[in-house]
Amino acid sequence: MPTAHSSSMAASLVGREYEVEVGPVAHGGHCVARTAEGQVLFVRHTLPGERVVARVTEGREDSRFLRADAVTVLTASKDRVPAPCPFSGPGKCGGCDWQHVKPGAQRRLKGEVLAEQLRALAGLTPEEAGWDGTVEPAPGDKVAPGEVPAWRTRVQYAVDDEGRAGLRRHRSHEVEPVDRCLIAAEGVTELGIEHRRWPGIATVEAIAATGSSDRMAILTPRPGARLPLVELDRPVSVMRAEGERGRGGEHPVHRVHGRAFVRERADDRTWRVSGGGFWQSHREAAGVLVDAVMRGLTPRKGEMALDLYCGAGLFAGALAERLGERGAVLGIEASRRAVEDARHNLADFPRVRVEQGTVAKVLPRTGITEADLVVLDPPRAGAGEEVVRRVAALGARRIAYVACDPAALARDLAHFRTAGYVPRFLRALDLFPMTQHMECVAILQPVTAASAR
Ligand SMILES: C[S@@+](CC[C@H](N)C(=O)[O-])C[C@H]1O[C@@H](n2cnc3c(N)ncnc32)[C@H](O)[C@@H]1O
Repeated sequence: MPTAHSSSMAASLVGREYEVEVGPVAHGGHCVARTAEGQVLFVRHTLPGERVVARVTEGREDSRFLRADAVTVLTASKDRVPAPCPFSGPGKCGGCDWQHVKPGAQRRLKGEVLAEQLRALAGLTPEEAGWDGTVEPAPGDKVAPGEVPAWRTRVQYAVDDEGRAGLRRHRSHEVEPVDRCLIAAEGVTELGIEHRRWPGIATVEAIAATGSSDRMAILTPRPGARLPLVELDRPVSVMRAEGERGRGGEHPVHRVHGRAFVRERADDRTWRVSGGGFWQSHREAAGVLVDAVMRGLTPRKGEMALDLYCGAGLFAGALAERLGERGAVLGIEASRRAVEDARHNLADFPRVRVEQGTVAKVLPRTGITEADLVVLDPPRAGAGEEVVRRVAALGARRIAYVACDPAALARDLAHFRTAGYVPRFLRALDLFPMTQHMECVAILQPVTAASAR
């Protein structure tokens, strides 16, 4: 992530205002503009084509670029709407980027960001990437301008010094207290986290499982503070998280009362996900992604597949179901907690194995030299060149790459091309409405198969 800070003694420009024409959207959700002196501004709370007064929030006279918020809109885009959320706007909640943008235009902007990342980092046109240029809404999210889909089943609230729950301001540790987060799923809102005080608590993560009534609150106490008695508006399991990461890089999480996990439903199965373990936050995401990955891979009975970065085993389970009794799946996952969940979730498939450790270390150790299908769903930073090279060397018929960052996706697609794999299809999915984020699923095949098409 580039930074506007410089270490020089040049004068700070924070607070300075510039009247500017706003240019295209960029990775990160801001739009690009220039001051009359030619300095680049990354402006939030605006849209391409607008004329605004932008107030600098970060940067100095000699910075490569300045960060700014649009504080006055002089000429509004036709894609602008009044932000439905009263906590959104310059200097306020940093959770959403595009409350002020019509839903269809949000998806268009995401498409522009993805096209630019593919071009700049992978040298691919949308056509070469097998992408039709659209960003698809998740089921139930096609709302009218000014409406907000309640999609987020996991919300990490921060608590201010007065014990009020809220969300962090953009690029800040400061808390914007909120009385309701509009993108939170109904099950999260029903817990009433925002209507209580949280003395001694640093953060409260609220989880509302999809397809079960399981609800969980994971509290991180401030250093030296005791956990208060937690009574919420609905029955809820309570976990205590430690602020410091433990061995293995995970935040230790301890059960206080109720279950230590929630049960999620996806692909006609129930998935145990322990407190602190990864699960997609959009209520429809697990199902939508399984569908996109399985359609792209077209698994055949008896094939051998890998699920890398497998979390609680979502894609490994979906593959095992479709590969039948003669098929086999190996999952690899770094988090011990997630591996326990995956082994529990996949216990009824005798030909599924889950190994714990990083993909870079475990994959070479497994002794596996070939596979028919591979799914990779790495964290935001992507898989990186070495993992891509090792995956490509397995000679899979198809590879599904699930990505939450279009820049990491584009970098890894470039590595895959060097290693002999090219995209066959790419789908972009809006699994994070009102924010700049998106999820992509790329289906890759050997370059030889692509040229024979
Ligand atoms: C985006 S999640 C995907 C999880 C799963 N595929 C799902 O959809 O629920 C990424 C997962 O990668 C794991 N992880 C992060 N770095 C890893 C690494 N270097 N090797 C293996 N797993 C890793 C995380 O613990 C997390 O479970």
